[in-house]
Amino acid sequence: MNLTLKIWRQKNAKDKGQMVDYKINNISPDMSFLEMLDVLNNELVEKGDDPVAFDHDCREGICGMCSLFINGEAHGPDRGVTTCQLHMRMFKDGDTIYIEPFRAKAFPVIKDLVVDRTAFDKIQHAGGFISVNTSGNTQDANAIPVPKHDADRAFDAATCIGCGACVATCKNSSAMLFVSAKVSQFALLPQGKVEATERVLNMVEEMDNLGFGNCTNTGACEVECPKGISLENIARMNREYLKASFR
Ligand code: SF4
Ligand code: FES
Repeated sequence: MNLTLKIWRQKNAKDKGQMVDYKINNISPDMSFLEMLDVLNNELVEKGDDPVAFDHDCREGICGMCSLFINGEAHGPDRGVTTCQLHMRMFKDGDTIYIEPFRAKAFPVIKDLVVDRTAFDKIQHAGGFISVNTSGNTQDANAIPVPKHDADRAFDAATCIGCGACVATCKNSSAMLFVSAKVSQFALLPQGKVEATERVLNMVEEMDNLGFGNCTNTGACEVECPKGISLENIARMNREYLKASFR
């Protein structure tokens, strides 16, 4: 396939940035989207130009590092996949593809297509964990029975990889889907109930302080989430928050 790429280039956080056009030829439909960008970067390096900076790590849909807005959609036109799992067969010969960073006030651009998602780490540090005594007397996990239905829903919430597609997609740059997944994965399990009150209050406070917007129930986040995190998690987090506020 021969393609035209329109890519956001921005030297650093202070640079204004702009879309730059590139032509790329002989791209196999079996390549991943990131492999296609690797080909472009090889060509740029050979010409002595600055390669396009983009985030990636596992390239298996696990780590949540890849983060491109492709033709106006977080992680591109496919459903239930991350950018690293997107294949060039989703595009046609002669296509023009727009490639931008995940944009949100709380995710400032570092360079080109790389944004700073430290805000998610800060929310996690505010309560996205359980405190466990690891002195050698740790209770066997199977000693506390968990109903299958609860275990399944907790697992589904725990599949959130923290990519930030929900924030980039939301017109309000809300982080509610991400935070609610992190709250839900513990709220549904007995092990998470001990610190449930502080967890939800602290994580929501941190989310608000970091400049994420409010949820207005549009549901775009759920559609674009590569892991299918359900909006029911936001409803559960709101219930948890209400309960915690009265304690
Ligand atoms: S909820 Fe989905 S879109 Fe949002 S960070 Fe988690 S995996 Fe990514
Ligand atoms: S590079 Fe790890 S999820 Fe895409």
